[in-house]
Amino acid sequence: MDKPKVLIARKTFDDIVDRLRPHFELECKEDEGAWTQAELIARLQGKTGVYITGTEKIDATLLDACPQLRLISSMAVGYNNVDVAACTARGVLLTNAPDVLTETTADFGFALMMATARRIAESEHFLRRGEWKQWGVTMFAGSDVHGATLGILGMGRIGQAIAKRGALGFGMKVIYHNRSRLAPELEAPLGARWVEKDELLQQADHLVLVLPYSAASHHAIGAAELSKMKKTATLTNIARGGIVDDAALARALAAGTIAAAGLDVFEGEPSVHPELLTVPNVVLTPHIASASIPTRRAMASLAVDNLIAVLTGGKPVTPVNPEVL
Ligand code: GLV
Repeated sequence: MDKPKVLIARKTFDDIVDRLRPHFELECKEDEGAWTQAELIARLQGKTGVYITGTEKIDATLLDACPQLRLISSMAVGYNNVDVAACTARGVLLTNAPDVLTETTADFGFALMMATARRIAESEHFLRRGEWKQWGVTMFAGSDVHGATLGILGMGRIGQAIAKRGALGFGMKVIYHNRSRLAPELEAPLGARWVEKDELLQQADHLVLVLPYSAASHHAIGAAELSKMKKTATLTNIARGGIVDDAALARALAAGTIAAAGLDVFEGEPSVHPELLTVPNVVLTPHIASASIPTRRAMASLAVDNLIAVLTGGKPVTPVNPEVL
C-alpha cells in the first residue's frame, strides 16, 4: 500500500522530520520562510496531513481546495491562523503544541517585561549610537519589578507560569483577569487575586497579556484601556497581535499615557506599525517568545508525534477539535 503523503510546510529540524519517513511520503519546505497561499494549496494536493506553524493560514478556501486533507498538525500552541469550525465541519482534525512551550514562553514574557521596566533596549540603543558621554543619576531610570503589582490578562498555563516567577522570585503582588477564576489551590501559592478588567488596568504596575486571540479579544487593549492604566505602568504583549490596538499604543507611548511597552507580537506581523518603530519607550522582538532550541525542538517533536499517531490509526496526543474523530 502507498504511504500517506504529508507536507512539511515550514523548514524544521531534519532529525525530527526523519521520524516521519518510515510512515509517510514527505514533501518538505527546504528553505526558510513560508509559501504563498496559492503555492501552499498546490503543494497540498494529494496530501493527507500537513505540518504547519502558527503562521500558515488554514481557511475554508484552502480546505475545500484540498479535500484529501485529514490532519493539520501545528507546532504552535496558538491556532488563530486556523479556522477550527471550518476544519470540524469538514472532518479535518487540528492538533497543536501546548505545554511544551509554557516555561520558555513565560521566561521570555518575564524577560521582556523586565527589559521594558528597566529600559534595557532604549539605553542600549543610546549607547550604540555613541551618545553616552557621562553617567547620570536618573539616566534611564525605570521602574522596579520586584515588589511591584504584576497584572496578568489571561491566566492559562503561560499566565500562571509568569505569575509564579513574579510571586515566588520577585515578591510581586499578582492580580489577574480571566474568563474563569483559578481554583483556590492554584491561586493560593501565588497569592493571585482575580479582579475585574478595569481594576487590573488601574492597579497593575506591569501588565502582561497572555490570552488567546479571537474576535472577543480583538483590541482588548485600545485607547480607552490604556488611559485607565498608571502613567508609570508597562504593558507586555507576548500573546498575539490584534489583542492590542498597535496604533493606539504607539500614540499612548508617545504621549506618556503609560511608561513603556514590550511587544513580541504585532497586528499584521511581520509588518510593525511605523509609529512603534519611532517611539523610544518600546522593546520590539520578532515573535520569539517560545524560541529556545530545546523548546522549538519539543514543539516540532510533538507535531510529529501527532502526525504519526493520527495518520497511523492511533489517538492524537493534543487534539484541538477531537469531536471530529
Ligand atoms: C506561538 O506564538 C505559539 O502559539 O506557539
